[in-house]
Amino acid sequence: MERAYRLRTIPPYPFREIAALKAEKIAKGEKLIDFGIGDPDQPTPEFVLDAMADAIRDRRTHQYDETGHGYPEFLEAVARHMQRRFGVELETPKQIQGTIGCKEALVHIEWAYIDPGDIVLVPDPAYSVYKVQATFCGGAAYPMPLREENGFLPDLDAVPPSIAKRAKLLWLNYPNNPTGAVADLVFFERAVAFAKQHDLFVCQDASYAEVYYGDTRPPSILQVPGADEVAIEFHSLSKTFNMTGWRVGWACGAAEPVDGLSKVKANVDSGTFAAIQLAAAAALDHYDAWAPTLRELYRQRRDALADGLQSLGWPVTRPPGAFYLWVRVPEGETSAGFAKKLLEDCGVLVVPGAVYGDYGEGYVRMSLTLTAEDPLAAIGEAVERMGKLA
Ligand SMILES: Cc1ncc(COP(=O)(O)O)c(C=O)c1O
Repeated sequence: MERAYRLRTIPPYPFREIAALKAEKIAKGEKLIDFGIGDPDQPTPEFVLDAMADAIRDRRTHQYDETGHGYPEFLEAVARHMQRRFGVELETPKQIQGTIGCKEALVHIEWAYIDPGDIVLVPDPAYSVYKVQATFCGGAAYPMPLREENGFLPDLDAVPPSIAKRAKLLWLNYPNNPTGAVADLVFFERAVAFAKQHDLFVCQDASYAEVYYGDTRPPSILQVPGADEVAIEFHSLSKTFNMTGWRVGWACGAAEPVDGLSKVKANVDSGTFAAIQLAAAAALDHYDAWAPTLRELYRQRRDALADGLQSLGWPVTRPPGAFYLWVRVPEGETSAGFAKKLLEDCGVLVVPGAVYGDYGEGYVRMSLTLTAEDPLAAIGEAVERMGKLA
């Protein structure tokens, strides 16, 4: 049976290929140091597990969540969190939609707005979902290069007016995967003005909002006055609370896209298991006490890896956010070729930058979420192995 057009046109999901290569090496008994997929290696904190244990015995949670937007306890915890963390006031449920992690919402917002022939403005390099979904909907992704010299921010002035006119969504993702860049409010103001000028919605993927290293906390785009007319921001508990497997997050902001997303979801899924929503509410209420511990863990790993690579003479800059190092490959190498060399010669797994888009060529991504008994020691060993690279 021939598969549908939407499946025939997309490239394979990049992590599947990487996972296959990794499995092959492991089957041969090789000891890999894996800087591949970005998935927190630490367990979900105890206070979330405790809340979940209670919630799962609450009989209400055993049935469909018929609220549409999510349990009031969860939405109110989100509203409190957005107020405390960003100073952003949100009306529940009109401006908040609970989601099955962030990825589901990134998909469904495109289903809500993209018809054949529409354009989606997508950063390059980027998480693959934004672009693939544009294609699934019959639309097209227009790449906005993220260049090192621009702090890995897209140059919105470089989008041709004829493209901006046909665009319905503009994707941003700060703190950024894969570059680790953080956007400031000045940039978000520019993005909101651009959205108003061209009558489109800004979709800001804030999955990594709580992974940052400096004293300045990454802002929410919703802090920009007027953003609540044109911006929708996607948050997730996955990275903040080591909850990638739980599948819980939220979208918030302008009422129209929140409602558009909600309508798609009403026809596709039945929301996150309600007990998980209640556990997520408890997690958010513990945010202030918990988040510094999380950041300190990644800061130590970031500094160990950056110091180590710098000691080898590699031109590495310390990212201000997210848990990735975006590392330039040596002159004359491709990102895929260099990643293969690291895997074959050093047993070190990194992701070739080109899987994130054409402008990812020339880099590899190294995730700080490595699974090892002693991750700092594993980073040290990886640096030692890479130091022997011919
Ligand atoms: C930029 C970005 N957005 C979204 C996601 C998906 O996160 P979630 O687990 O919340 O679906 C990821 C996962 O790695 C990501 O890197």
